[in-house]
Amino acid sequence: MHVRDAIQERRSIRKYKEKEIEAEKIELLKEALIWAPSAANLQARKFYFVSGKAKEKLNEAFHQDWVKKVPLVIVCCGDKKIIEEQFGEGADLRYNHLDTAASIENLMIQAVELELGTCWIGKINRENAREILEIPAYLNVICGVAIGYPAEKGEKKTRKSIFEERK
Ligand SMILES: Cc1cc2nc3c(=O)[nH]c(=O)nc-3n(C[C@H](O)[C@H](O)[C@H](O)COP(=O)(O)O)c2cc1C
Repeated sequence: MHVRDAIQERRSIRKYKEKEIEAEKIELLKEALIWAPSAANLQARKFYFVSGKAKEKLNEAFHQDWVKKVPLVIVCCGDKKIIEEQFGEGADLRYNHLDTAASIENLMIQAVELELGTCWIGKINRENAREILEIPAYLNVICGVAIGYPAEKGEKKTRKSIFEERK
């Protein structure tokens, strides 16, 4: 599959089949997360793959009904400690989101080739998720990502022009 096609075909999917993702596909998704760029190659990020009973518990942290029915959610975190050691206090606010987002977009594009659907979950109760998954304090909980076999096509949304030119 061409990268351009994967980019164009990706949709946010909010309805999933019960079907489990094969181990080989999970490995390819992890590879996509790992190989994203990161500030100073510090790779200051951590991804929790949550399914089964743990996912049932985690549902409390979501405010959207569709997320509660998703079999696998990845909780994405930035490592505040690693970033602050390198760039100083408060630098996590600049880099944790960027490092994590770079990985997530890689994962979402890879997922298209694997015939998997994804959706970003910005609306998550971060402190609730931290407690349920026992996420240590040096990690900032950034967001969730739903992933699985799609049970809907997903709507093709419009895009606006976002460019300015300076010469
Ligand atoms: C940072 C971010 C947070 C998002 N949070 C949510 C969310 O909490 N719930 C949801 O249904 N979609 C969420 N989305 C998905 C967007 O609604 C979606 O990307 C947008 O409508 C464009 O549609 P498309 O992804 O199908 O192109 C989020 C997307 C981003 C990038």
